[in-house]
Amino acid sequence: MKKFLSVNDLGNLKEALNQAFEIKKNRFAFQNLGKNKTLLMVFFNSSLRTRLSTQKAAMNLGMNVIVLDVNQGAWKLETERGVIMDGDKSEHLLEAIPVMGSYCDIIGVRSFANFTNKADEYSEKIINQFIKYSGRPVFSMEAATCHPLQAFADVITIEEHKKCEKPKVVLTWAPHPKALPQAVPNSFAEWCVAAGYDVVITHPEGYELDEKFTKGAKIEYDQKKALQGADFVYAKNWSAYEDPNYGKILSKDMSWTIDSEHMSWTNNAYFMHCLPVRRNMIVTDDVIESENSLVIKEAANREISAETVIKMMLETL
Ligand code: CP
Repeated sequence: MKKFLSVNDLGNLKEALNQAFEIKKNRFAFQNLGKNKTLLMVFFNSSLRTRLSTQKAAMNLGMNVIVLDVNQGAWKLETERGVIMDGDKSEHLLEAIPVMGSYCDIIGVRSFANFTNKADEYSEKIINQFIKYSGRPVFSMEAATCHPLQAFADVITIEEHKKCEKPKVVLTWAPHPKALPQAVPNSFAEWCVAAGYDVVITHPEGYELDEKFTKGAKIEYDQKKALQGADFVYAKNWSAYEDPNYGKILSKDMSWTIDSEHMSWTNNAYFMHCLPVRRNMIVTDDVIESENSLVIKEAANREISAETVIKMMLETL
């Protein structure tokens, strides 16, 4: 595997899930695969889970790991070609990327959308430059439009807890004080449809996601109707995708916050969130602390999803 942004990059999701479950049984079984190989993790944005779980996954595979925080201690990078570089940016990404590639065997990149240019962000301009110019396999550690390591971990977690072949999985928008990217809900929808679940997405009008990711899911604007019979409730905030509101907050309606009443409408559903989460905005204390909350298990499975993806990349070096 030379790049990893989408469920389609895996080839076969069922086979990848089987590999993930094998790895979970013995996460040190492939220690020799990464011997004398180096993973470079490049962060343009902050992280807790992705940083720790991906580094741990690479170490499980016997790899060396280098972490670069682009905004702390590295030269400020210009990303636009043709710019006269007379400002505060000392280095261009077009030199920096092949230089980074010369020090490692595989690269992970985290680069969020910042809502300055929708066309650039929805063409995944930054990570695609790494794919084009680094000469190395590249995986997303959350890009502008997708967070596939998170979605893979979420599907692993659902597979571990589902009580029927085709569970009802509801992705619900919830309020948040800041404008957040669509990456997590995009990937969650894409991966859950690929996994064959009954996927329902609920949000206030105006929060429709890119159909490229939601094709195969049902959209239901009535949150109560959507939650009825749900086996899994995945809460997440995102900002508007559609023009002219791209990146904007259209609602902070606290009636969408997942509380025990919302959960009582479900089929005794599990609660899921990728974390970090704003308590009592997205979900109430009692729901996230309940025995049906899977948030810690999802985070723990990030090590497994990362190890599966890095292993697949090591096998094609
Ligand atoms: N879920 C997730 O990606 O967490 P971090 O932003 O802390 O890495």
